[in-house]
Amino acid sequence: MIYLDNAATSWPKPESVYQTVDEFLRNQGGNPGRGGHSLAVAASRMIEETRLLLARLINATDKDRIIFTLNCTDSLNTGLKGLLRPGDHVITSRLEHNSVVRPLGKLEQQGVKVTQLSPYSRYGSVSAQDVAKAITGKTKLVVMTHASNVTGVVQPIKEYGAIARQHNLIFMVDAAQTAGKYPLDVQANNIDLLAFPGHKGLLGPPGTGALYVGERVDLDSLREGGTGSHSELEMQPTELPFKLECGTVNSAGIAGLGAGLKYIFKEGTERILAYEQSLTDRLIKGLARILRVTVYRDKDGTRQTPVVSLTIEEAEPMEVGAILDQAFDTKVRTGLHCAPAAHKTIGTFPRGTVRLSPGYFNTTKEIDVTIKAIEKIARSGIILKAVEETALSD
Ligand SMILES: Cc1ncc(COP(=O)(O)O)c(C=O)c1O
Repeated sequence: MIYLDNAATSWPKPESVYQTVDEFLRNQGGNPGRGGHSLAVAASRMIEETRLLLARLINATDKDRIIFTLNCTDSLNTGLKGLLRPGDHVITSRLEHNSVVRPLGKLEQQGVKVTQLSPYSRYGSVSAQDVAKAITGKTKLVVMTHASNVTGVVQPIKEYGAIARQHNLIFMVDAAQTAGKYPLDVQANNIDLLAFPGHKGLLGPPGTGALYVGERVDLDSLREGGTGSHSELEMQPTELPFKLECGTVNSAGIAGLGAGLKYIFKEGTERILAYEQSLTDRLIKGLARILRVTVYRDKDGTRQTPVVSLTIEEAEPMEVGAILDQAFDTKVRTGLHCAPAAHKTIGTFPRGTVRLSPGYFNTTKEIDVTIKAIEKIARSGIILKAVEETALSD
């Protein structure tokens, strides 16, 4: 089996992640922060250790500014809805995932004004100059994805951050596709809010994510409830992380995330990125030689995450994905990847693309086998026949 869907969630996980989750549930599975018995204390210690590892990963000065969430979507909702109020203006891009687009859509209905900037070229990133030009007296936030989950293009967050800080705006980054691979220094990049999943590049289990909340931001809470601290108060505590983190956390998931982070620190993000980049380059090079295959990428860009979107002439992406799965036991994602605006921008809406996203545990052999499989599909009449049949039955 070949798994090439790491942009959705990374798989497999390092062996230590499986072992840590198992060990945690068996031997330390108390409720962190709730009670003083040894199992609750052990769970608390693990949660705070993982929080510290996350703070180290993104160069946050205070670990308590890291909030555990359910996933990157939850982090983005917590940041956007906790910050924005009717009358505020937000600058964002047409490359965003629905986890930014939809909360902003809802906020727009409540009176927030949203400007969606297009990339400077069809497959490129949004220029920092365009961000600067879009600022008005009402602008409160610039929110940008670090890398597109459709084309893989990496956006210039350092430039956006500098502009946002210069104009005293809040800068939020969606690092769903880059956390664990690219440097995410919140101080060097002037990032005030950083949303990231635990289950993709950080190699943790599903149901994990985090939001970094910088010192310039005071978010309203979206949920209130038990925090295990300040139980005497009938109102939500005001200090972080408790203000934004209530109810029992996904402690087994966070234990696994801690193991994923330790694995990443041991391997080194530079090495991980270099390896994944080499697989991506090999894939792109191999695909470029296949007739009738189009790869959607910024050819002039120097940086692309391990995300490769393609179509085969006259073939439905969904069909290609199904054939890859059933005939070649290769797992890829097809369609719109929850980013319809990005597909409209690159001209692949509404059918979308076939997306291949290599991870650290893929091999060069798997990449070569996949290239051959796609070549076979592109050459064969299987797809054309399927497309004709669909057309006839419509
Ligand atoms: C760019 C981007 N943002 C946000 C998300 C949402 O992440 P999650 O599935 O952890 O909610 C994804 C998921 O693929 C993504 O690619």
